[in-house]
Amino acid sequence: MRIAFYDVKPYDKPWFDRLAPEYGCEIKYLDYHLNADTARFSEGCGVACAFVNDVIDKDTLDALAETGVKLIAMRCAGYNNVDLKAACYMGFKVVRVPEYSPAAVAEHTMALLLCVNRKIHRAYSRTRENNFSINGLIGFDMRGKTAGIIGTGKIGRVFAEICGGFGMKVIAYDPYPSDSFNGEYKPIDSVYRESDVISLHCPLIPATRHMINKDSIALMKDGVVVVNTSRGGLIDTPALIDALKSKKFYGAGLDVYEEEADYFFSDYSAEIITDDDLARLLSFPNVVLTSHQAFFTEEATREIAETTLKNIQEFNTLKEGRTLVNEICCDNVKRLPD
Ligand code: NAI
Repeated sequence: MRIAFYDVKPYDKPWFDRLAPEYGCEIKYLDYHLNADTARFSEGCGVACAFVNDVIDKDTLDALAETGVKLIAMRCAGYNNVDLKAACYMGFKVVRVPEYSPAAVAEHTMALLLCVNRKIHRAYSRTRENNFSINGLIGFDMRGKTAGIIGTGKIGRVFAEICGGFGMKVIAYDPYPSDSFNGEYKPIDSVYRESDVISLHCPLIPATRHMINKDSIALMKDGVVVVNTSRGGLIDTPALIDALKSKKFYGAGLDVYEEEADYFFSDYSAEIITDDDLARLLSFPNVVLTSHQAFFTEEATREIAETTLKNIQEFNTLKEGRTLVNEICCDNVKRLPD
């Protein structure tokens, strides 16, 4: 099976190169994002392997179909960048890696929260300059504070456990409550109103797009910390910027950003940032922004490579009419009206 592997980064190769022969796969690495223009580079490959910022819309799917690609293998959990409805109608199979290390993302979420709270990023810069003043670096005790978790799936539940370990009260909203969540479910507005820390762990779907907006921010406590390690589109960025400017928030920890596709995962240190919202976010001393790296641990990268290759191998031997283990189910999508 030959795989067109889009948007490759140096850290992708070690595990994929090591494991590909075991799964009977040969990989054609491509530096570009997958989109309607680059889809043609899949010629001769049955599989297009894509990541979080690739654009897999109807135009890309049309171009992929012409190259003979039959399987889109997402090497990530989220699939908000795939036009699933179009993919299903066109007969593509779409697979993903539903779980690689919930702990990796949940631990990074806590790292962002601790950094924002205790201003570690500023302390680090100061001591590097032999400035040992602690003026302005005051934080707050986490013990006894309320963590509001939106989405208690695999990652949200691990983050809830971590918050519990810090002695925080944990409340959550999820339209599909889980028996294994160790905290109290509340309506979403109560989570906004009662939380000292709000952490987003739900998928980006139409119902969640811009859920953090002017109205939900108005419900929040003054001095709240918002952490987003899920998808940038969950937050209306101008509303976040307004709230930061008006000092509504204690701070924000962000691993994702709505328009991240243009910048994240690449080095622009010698360039001018032309995205004014991104530049503004980076200018706040109480915002810590990482470049979609919450997943990035040794354990998770190995799991991503292994599951992606297993998904592809399974597709290769799939009997007509059967569904793949990690296939993104299209039955509901097919029934949706336009
Ligand atoms: P999951 O599917 O296990 O959990 C998602 C939860 O969100 C489910 O319990 C679901 O019921 C809930 N949900 C659905 N609609 C909701 C709504 N309207 N409001 C509140 N909750 C809602 O997913 P998992 O593995 O926990 O991942 C969560 C998100 O984290 C993913 O969607 C992905 O976007 C993001 N992610 C980010 C990574 C990073 O490196 N920054 C890495 C992996 C995932």
